Amino acid sequence: MVSKVTAPHLRKMKAEGEKIVMLTAYDYPTGKIADQAGVDVILVGDSLGEVVLGFESTLPVTMDMMIHHTSAVVRGASRALVVADMPFLSYQVSVEDAVRNAGRFLQEAGAQAVKLEGAGPVIPVVERLTQIGIPVMGHLGMTPQSEHQFGGRRIHGKEKAEAIHIQEDARALQDAGAFAVVLELIPHELARQITEDLSIPTIGIGAGPYCDGQVLVTHDMIGLYDRFVPKHAKQYVKLWELIQDAFRSYADEVRSGVFPKRSGS
Ligand code: KIV
Repeated sequence: MVSKVTAPHLRKMKAEGEKIVMLTAYDYPTGKIADQAGVDVILVGDSLGEVVLGFESTLPVTMDMMIHHTSAVVRGASRALVVADMPFLSYQVSVEDAVRNAGRFLQEAGAQAVKLEGAGPVIPVVERLTQIGIPVMGHLGMTPQSEHQFGGRRIHGKEKAEAIHIQEDARALQDAGAFAVVLELIPHELARQITEDLSIPTIGIGAGPYCDGQVLVTHDMIGLYDRFVPKHAKQYVKLWELIQDAFRSYADEVRSGVFPKRSGS
């Protein structure tokens, strides 16, 4: 195991057929637990808005919120590569804006890379960031910041034209200098083709088993989000219920005088 995962190391993992393990984290304890568990990449996702801050989507998340949470994760993670998700409007307005905002993640929060959604108009941003030494992870398929344009969250790339478009976008991100690309909610076969076509790693979420790595939203896989569990997520523990049981036991014990113990008893 390397002592510090880096963007170039992920490429090496792909070349050697070693699967990449990625999870999201939004605070110091979750970042530290993921790091100690040997997770390779920790994404401070803008899913923060939904699973931690209780918004209905990722759109209200701001740069200041992301910087605050990314700094906490960085304080907990020593081995994993920490990737900060660029929130809505932090990279779409101009390349200058994107450079300033991506730079804040490295300078103020200590992240080692940034992630942004889409291709097309975003390609010049990826080129500029990578030219100045900021590693960029792409994100294609179902990109939550565009959910209103898509009319909700659904599988992308079922139609041939859409599949070709995603394939071309993946290639364009690689050519622009991205070090990896997240593929979200696309058909397994399309994910396989893109994974074979690219020399940079693909990280799947709801994209099947053929990607070079997998990512899940941590709160989905530990059962700490009450609104819904996406079909693609496997729940390894139901923390919501465990925590609620602990809170109920505490409340019962305080009300009945069992906790705290009287001195001498
Ligand atoms: O914000 C996030 O958690 C993400 C993952 C779904 C990849 O972008």
